[in-house]
Amino acid sequence: MLSLTDRLTRAFSAAFEKAGCPPEHGQVVESQRPDLCQFQCNGALAAAKAARRNPREVGQAVLDALEEKELFESLSLAGPGFINIRLKPGFLARHVAEMGADAALGCPPLSPREKVVVDFGGPNVAKSMHVGHLRSTILGDSLQRLFRFLGQAVVSDIHLGDWGTQMGMLIVALSRSQPGLPYFDAAFPGPYPAQAPVSVADLEEMYPRASALCKEDPAEAERARQATFELQQGRPGYRALWRHFVEVSVAAAREDFSALGVDFDLWLGESHYQDAIPGMIDELKRAGVARPSEGALVVPVDQEGGIPPLLLVKSDGGYLYGTTDLATLRERALEQRASLVLYVVDKRQGLHFEQVFRAAAKAGYLERCRGEHVAYGTVNGPDGKPFKTRSGGVMKLKDLIRMAQDEALKAMRELGVAGEYPPEEQAGIARKVGIAALKYADLMNHRGSDYVFDLAKFTRFEGRTGPYHLYAAVRVKSILRKAAEAGLEPGELLPATGREEGLMMALALFPDAAREAHRHRAPNHLCEHAFRLAQAFSGFYQQCHILGEQDPALRASWLQLARICLAQLEKVLELLGIETPERM
Ligand code: ARG
Repeated sequence: MLSLTDRLTRAFSAAFEKAGCPPEHGQVVESQRPDLCQFQCNGALAAAKAARRNPREVGQAVLDALEEKELFESLSLAGPGFINIRLKPGFLARHVAEMGADAALGCPPLSPREKVVVDFGGPNVAKSMHVGHLRSTILGDSLQRLFRFLGQAVVSDIHLGDWGTQMGMLIVALSRSQPGLPYFDAAFPGPYPAQAPVSVADLEEMYPRASALCKEDPAEAERARQATFELQQGRPGYRALWRHFVEVSVAAAREDFSALGVDFDLWLGESHYQDAIPGMIDELKRAGVARPSEGALVVPVDQEGGIPPLLLVKSDGGYLYGTTDLATLRERALEQRASLVLYVVDKRQGLHFEQVFRAAAKAGYLERCRGEHVAYGTVNGPDGKPFKTRSGGVMKLKDLIRMAQDEALKAMRELGVAGEYPPEEQAGIARKVGIAALKYADLMNHRGSDYVFDLAKFTRFEGRTGPYHLYAAVRVKSILRKAAEAGLEPGELLPATGREEGLMMALALFPDAAREAHRHRAPNHLCEHAFRLAQAFSGFYQQCHILGEQDPALRASWLQLARICLAQLEKVLELLGIETPERM
C-alpha cells in the first residue's frame, strides 16, 4: 500500500500536471503548523518561479484541478501560495485501519529490491570489544533490520579483525610464557592439540602487554612482525595456534552479541580474503591500476586532490588493512553481487574508506555496486574524552551490558516497576530494560555526533529513553489484555475526532520516518517516531478511557486504535533492536 503522504503527493502531482506544471512540485509533507492544517504542499512557489507565473494563481489552478476532493475536509491557499490541507476524518481513519491490516504495517517496500551487505561489529580477535564496537553493533543491527523491513535483500557480515600484527605479537608472547608448546617447534609433525592453550581472558591480558612491549622494544616488534609474516606464509604451528585464538575470541564475541540480541548472516574475517589477495594484486598491476612506489605497491587515488594513495603491499611484502578491505569489496561486488555495501565504522576511519572506495572504482569493482561509509561519532565519558573505565582502560562490552542491567534494576526498584513479579521474571525485565536503555540512548543521537555515556540518564523512565518506550508499549499491552479478559474485541475504526487525531496522524507518518531513516542511514528518525507515537498514545489515553467507555462501537474503535498503535510501536522498537517485555 502507498503511504499517506505518497497518496496525497500522487493526487497533487496529477493536479500540477493538469495545471500545466511539472508533477514533481506536488510533494506533500506533514505541516509545520499543526494548528492550521495537517499537511501542506509548497510546490506552487517553485512551479510559479520556473514558469514566471504568479504563485497564488498557480496554487489556485492546482486546487481547481485537484481530483478526489471528497478526501479533504479543507484545502486553502495561504501566504504567497502554500496549500494547506486537512483530511476528512473518515479518510484518515480508513488509511490507519488499512495500515493496521497490512503485513508491512503500511510501509511500502523500496524498489528496486537491492542486495545490500552491511559490514558492522568488526571486533578484533584477542582484543576485547569496547564501547566503539558497541556503537557499530547497535547502529549496524538497526540498519540491517530496517533495510530488511523495507524489502531489501540484506547480508550482514561481522568482518572480524583476525589477521593483523596482533597475531604475531600474541604468538611471540606465548612462545615466551609457554615455550614447550608444540606450535613453536617447526619440526613438529602434528596433529596439534584440539584444545586451545589459552582462554579469551588470557588473550585479553596478554595483548596489551605484548603491544606495549613491541612499542618499547624494536627487537620485540621485529620478532612480532616476523611471526606475523610466517603465519601469513602458512607456517603450520602458527596457523594452528591462530585458529585457537580465533575460536576462543569468536565464542566470546558470540556471547556478547547474543546478549545484545544481534546476529550476523556471515561471520567472515579479514583472514577469509587473504588467499584472493595475490590474484587481485596481479590483476591490478596488469591493468595499470597498482604502481610501484618507493619499494611498495600503491593505488594512486588522488583524482580530486589531497587523498594519499592506497598502500597495497608494503616494501617488506606485507599486506595492510586497506589491502584486505579492497579484496573484501571486490568479493562483495563481483562475487556476492551486492549493489550496496554499507560500512558501519567509526568516522575516524573516513580517509581509509575514501581511499578504498576510490581504489575500488579505479579497479572497476564499483560499476554495479556502491560502497558507503556509514560513519559514527565517539562515545565519551563525562570528561568529554572517549569513554574509559575508572582505571583508564577501555570498558569491555560485557561489563557495559552488566552495568546497564544493574542500573536498570536500580531504576525499576526506585519506581516499584515489576516489584511484585517473581525474581526471575524481574531479572529478565531488567535485562530488556538495560539493553533498551543502551540502544535507545545510542540511536537517538544522529550517528555522526558524539555523545556522553551516562547510564543514570539512559535508564530513566521518562523522556527520550529506552525504558520510557518499553513502559509505554507494556501499558498498551496491559489495556489490550484486560479488554480481552473482559471479552472485548477491537472493531471498526471510527472517524477521528479531536481526541484521536494526534494518534492517527502519528501512526500515518510511520512510513515517512522509516524512509528518512533509510535515506540518511540514521535510525534517530525512528527513535523520534517512537517517541512521538508513545506521546500521542499517552495524550489519546488521557482523554479516552478505553475500558470505561460505555458506547460499544466507540470502545471497539479505540481498542482497534490501541492495537494498531501497539503493533507499530513494537515494530519501530524492533527496528531499533529493542525487545518489549510482556509486562512490567
Ligand atoms: N576491526 C576494525 C576495527 O576495530 C573494524 C572493521 C570495520 N570493517 C571494515 N571492513 N574495515 O577498527
